[in-house]
Amino acid sequence: MKTGLAGLGLLMSVASAQAQKFTRLAQTPPMGWNSWNKFACDVDEQKIRQVADVMATNGMKAAGYEYIVIDDCWHGKRDTLGFIQPDKQRFPSGMKALVDYVHSKGLKFGIYSDAGNTTCGGRPGSRGHEYQDATTYAQWGVDYLKYDWCATDGLKAEGAYSTMRDALGHAGHPVVFSLCEWGTAKPWLWASNVGHLWRTTGDIYNCWDCVHDNGGDSKSFGVLRIIDMQEGLRQYAGPGHWNDPDMMEVGNGKLTPSEERAHFAMWCMLAAPLIAGNDLRQMNPQTLSVLTNKAVIAVDQDPLGVQGFRLATKDSVDTWVKPLAEGDWALCFLNRGRKPQPITFDWKTQPIHDDMAKRDLAADGTRYKIRNLWTGREAGTTAKPFRAEVPGHDVVMIRLSK
Ligand code: GLA
Repeated sequence: MKTGLAGLGLLMSVASAQAQKFTRLAQTPPMGWNSWNKFACDVDEQKIRQVADVMATNGMKAAGYEYIVIDDCWHGKRDTLGFIQPDKQRFPSGMKALVDYVHSKGLKFGIYSDAGNTTCGGRPGSRGHEYQDATTYAQWGVDYLKYDWCATDGLKAEGAYSTMRDALGHAGHPVVFSLCEWGTAKPWLWASNVGHLWRTTGDIYNCWDCVHDNGGDSKSFGVLRIIDMQEGLRQYAGPGHWNDPDMMEVGNGKLTPSEERAHFAMWCMLAAPLIAGNDLRQMNPQTLSVLTNKAVIAVDQDPLGVQGFRLATKDSVDTWVKPLAEGDWALCFLNRGRKPQPITFDWKTQPIHDDMAKRDLAADGTRYKIRNLWTGREAGTTAKPFRAEVPGHDVVMIRLSK
């Protein structure tokens, strides 16, 4: 009887250990690079190594970028025992060698699979192979898994993602678990114990403000559209569990320098994962300076972990606000339109309350110093109204410090 109870206790503790994601990871939004937005299915080991080489040395690693994630289409077939193999032509050295290489650069390695029978690119999915795949990833040393939602007829998202979470836990190698089910089953309501980030929308499209019809009922969305679709979700984000508005299109050739700046700034205001999606090997200095602006990144990576919110919209300019640790604040004036817009923000007559985070920006009692985060210049204090001109499709982003 005694042994029976002890046995039961042991079983229960094993079960509860598995029913948890890896809890210490992603205390700030994950930062890294993913192959999909630029390369889609055209991935191979040489490209991934080159991207890792560049990220380790071009200032990105120093700015906090950590994960190199191969998205869809790395897969070959399953072997006779059901173990997944990489595509032998594209990954002749095998996945373990590639993971070791990325690790040797002081970076972490991410991989992609799908909860269904196939991935969105038609490769083998993990359905029915969850524990086997998680074990394989652990043997390879994989640190991050993006888990997609194609070919999942008859599956419930919460169950399917929890199964993979348990499988990763069982395999034992710490993995950041990135849910990619496009917000369909509202993962923000159930996934904070399942994954570390969850996509909130369909795919991003490389444009400022458009909707692209992919056929079927699938659509992709430009930067502004994605930003607007984050409304109402900030209460679900925090350290270890982030809303993911998708990988960035900065540096992919369709956005102007202003739009790239605005896209990046807004991802930081949203405490979004910062996953670059461009060809790091051929990036112009302007794009690199956007991706590595440390003062802007610090807003994203702020340890308070509170997602920003839209305070107001006037004359095509959104005012976004994000409370930061130690009583600091970030403000971002986003000009949605083409025409430059002058802005004035009077701290005395426009007090800011964040009901959710229970914070007040009370500039009557406290005088804050203001710094412009893109120019790096000091911009006075909150004793006087803040004035600036926001160029079309651009931002002015400032940080208030006590
Ligand atoms: C889905 C995802 C994308 C990408 C592709 C790969 O569309 O949302 O981010 O992973 O699949 O096929």
